[in-house]
Amino acid sequence: MSLRPLVIAGISIFPPLALAPMAGVTNALFRKLFKPFGFGLTVSEFVSAQSLVRMHKRTLEMIDVYPEERPTAVQLHGNDPQVMAQAAAFVEECGADIVDINFGCPAPKIVKGGDGAAILRDPDLAVAICAAVRKAVQRVPVTVKMRLGWSSDNYTFVEIAKRAEAAGIDAFTLHGRYGQQFYRGEADWSYIARLKEAVSVPVIGNGDIRSADDALRRMRETGVDAIMVGRAALGNPWLIREITAVMSGLAVPAAPSVAERVEFARAHLDAMVERYGEKSGVLQMRKHLGWYLKGVEGAALLREQINHEPSADGVRAILAEARTRRAAAEGRETLSEAV
Ligand SMILES: Cc1cc2nc3c(=O)[nH]c(=O)nc-3n(C[C@H](O)[C@H](O)[C@H](O)COP(=O)(O)O)c2cc1C
Repeated sequence: MSLRPLVIAGISIFPPLALAPMAGVTNALFRKLFKPFGFGLTVSEFVSAQSLVRMHKRTLEMIDVYPEERPTAVQLHGNDPQVMAQAAAFVEECGADIVDINFGCPAPKIVKGGDGAAILRDPDLAVAICAAVRKAVQRVPVTVKMRLGWSSDNYTFVEIAKRAEAAGIDAFTLHGRYGQQFYRGEADWSYIARLKEAVSVPVIGNGDIRSADDALRRMRETGVDAIMVGRAALGNPWLIREITAVMSGLAVPAAPSVAERVEFARAHLDAMVERYGEKSGVLQMRKHLGWYLKGVEGAALLREQINHEPSADGVRAILAEARTRRAAAEGRETLSEAV
């Protein structure tokens, strides 16, 4: 199966595969490292519009985009149309290829402030935000990422999307869960298919894609224009290589060896330490290393050692040891198979 590019207001994106925004994970460095595996589009972590207009230094760093990862959407959250508009104009000025609006985050901290998925309870407010942002952004597309609604008895996504499209929104990403559901259960793609029928602009489907088969099946079943992958890519960018190959009609590449996985994890660590310094880089890498080591023999013990190791060299030594031990085990397996 060979697929068409995703085209958002004239920006052509191929393959039609997006890296999901994930707070605390998908910073510019992560996106740059994962992009070569085949994402057509990357999206920043969500950024508070309020903090951005107040020019908080750490927030400003969050809207950095590297040339190697483009096209990149920068995602904003907020509930005041004027503040969102001001932040969106600033983000465009700073070089975002797309401005994305978050109507999907269910985290209590965000919802309590009236942002994210809380906005799905108030379609008028959602549309007012879309209209204000669309008016403020001069040159680049404006998109919305949302859930079905806040609660299971009030799905507002179709109403909001239709009205937002009329206000000039250029594409939608829909995660097939409602806000109060957090990550429980399964994403319901039948609603994603419904959105695809309801609007004329592109729809990106999201939720629980764990394999190349999932991605193709969901595209065929729902007719969405692109797929967005989040959690399944953590520690496993090779999944993206696989999905991209299948989407392009190519043979599925071989799964990575443990040595390849550990080498990539080590390169990620090195890049993080260079960018954030040793202390912060090592701390931030703990979760990533846990993901990279998933399924590797002795992973629980390795994670334990890594989580108690403050120095980058110490973590590198643990990874080198894991690589050697596992490579030896793989060699033995190959030998015994040959015998
Ligand atoms: C750790 C984490 C952080 C997330 N942060 C964001 C965010 O900043 N903005 C957003 O729109 N969605 C965020 N999400 C939701 C994902 O983008 C995605 O919609 C969700 O994980 C479902 O896709 P998946 O099943 O492929 O992971 C986050 C998800 C996770 C797991």
